[in-house]
Amino acid sequence: MAEARREHFGGRLAIIMAMAGSAIGLGNIWRFPYLAGEHGGAAFIFVYIIASIFLSMPIFLAEAIIGRRSHANTYGAMEKLAPGTKWKWLSILTILAPLIIVSYYSVVGGWSIEYLVKSLAFSFNSTPKEEITSMFAGFISQPWMPIVCHTAFLGTCAVILTAGVKSGIEKFSNWSVPILFVLILIILVYSLTLPGAMEGVEYMIKPDFSKIDSEVILAAMGQSFYSLSLGVGTILVYSSYVSKNENLLVSGFGTAIFDLMFALMAGFAVMTAVFSAGVKPGAGPGLIFESLPFVFATMAESAPVVSGVISILFFVTILVSALTSGVSLMEVGVAYLVEEKKMRRGVATFTVFAGTWTLGCLCSLSFGPMNGFRIFGNSLFEFCDWISSNFLMAIGAMLFSLFVGWKMKKSDVYDEFTNGGTLRFNVRCFKAVYFLVRYIAPLVIGIIFLSGLLL
Ligand code: PHE
Repeated sequence: MAEARREHFGGRLAIIMAMAGSAIGLGNIWRFPYLAGEHGGAAFIFVYIIASIFLSMPIFLAEAIIGRRSHANTYGAMEKLAPGTKWKWLSILTILAPLIIVSYYSVVGGWSIEYLVKSLAFSFNSTPKEEITSMFAGFISQPWMPIVCHTAFLGTCAVILTAGVKSGIEKFSNWSVPILFVLILIILVYSLTLPGAMEGVEYMIKPDFSKIDSEVILAAMGQSFYSLSLGVGTILVYSSYVSKNENLLVSGFGTAIFDLMFALMAGFAVMTAVFSAGVKPGAGPGLIFESLPFVFATMAESAPVVSGVISILFFVTILVSALTSGVSLMEVGVAYLVEEKKMRRGVATFTVFAGTWTLGCLCSLSFGPMNGFRIFGNSLFEFCDWISSNFLMAIGAMLFSLFVGWKMKKSDVYDEFTNGGTLRFNVRCFKAVYFLVRYIAPLVIGIIFLSGLLL
């Protein structure tokens, strides 16, 4: 009965668009370019691609297999595929993790709304350059405005989610992902024409294999993981909306290729602009909310209108890419409440909204009035980021790969991965994929996990 009511994505492209929408986000824009530049350029990108194929792809497939096999939310999937066992309790962790992530992610999404408004008002043209950096610190430490923006961001995600899987998530990603590519292409072409642009290109891709050490390999694996939205059930839940005749391997590769292309394009666009304005690159919020506005202010000295337009396009790109990721993070909780707690979709979305909004407000306030409140020396915002990306994501990925590798029947995994033996290529690579999921992924995640704890 519940099966019959469950929605499905409309086809192969729609699936890849939705998954790519989840994958493409702040991780591509503010982390990837910096990590590549710092850690050996093309050498890092090479390690990143290897890590994506041999580690992230098996985990992606593990999540996808659980999701599509069960056609259920994370908790329901575990109960369906391993009835009466403790796995479903463990899965609760992977439902909480995306909710913690979206709480602080939406604070950053909110900042991008504020900065979009600032670009629409051509503020970077009129603010003296020396004030641009302090403008950001001043804004995030205010109590009210960042919360208003966080509410607007999360509220937009909620509205999309309430519309459902097909008319909400699918429709939104179907038009927004192509638009994101067009926008980033326009920005990239423009950035490449800036004086000194080649320095930025060089920073990101100049190969330096001597930099590759264990720390860099861990960074590449962690980034590939985060960027592909793994370990927190988003791929599992999206795959539960995939119909039985689709090819999971194609969805996985399609998503990874879109994600990598976007990361490279965004990386070149951001870094060429940053270098041409003579700014030092960094990672995290500082890169897009301090360095980029400074770049726009510098550009505005010679071309105010173009600089204004490019800054608008930039912040639209950041906002939309964060929205599609935010939606996917919330959907994990919404699917759980709808299917396990029998809530109506609207009520479930509101419940998720209320919880993540509250935690997000506290995260936002941790830059201002609540800055004194520290957990192991971190502000609440930093703590939520740390615990989810170093801890919960790794636990989730471990859980999914162990479940597919050790708990599910091998014949069921085979059946799901090869569509009942009908996909010839998948049949041929099943052994290798199974080996990676069963042995390599848990082992490597264990290492990432321990290093995350120790570093
Ligand atoms: N992949 C997203 C990004 O790169 C972040 C994300 C992580 C989204 C986990 C969903 C789940 O920004």
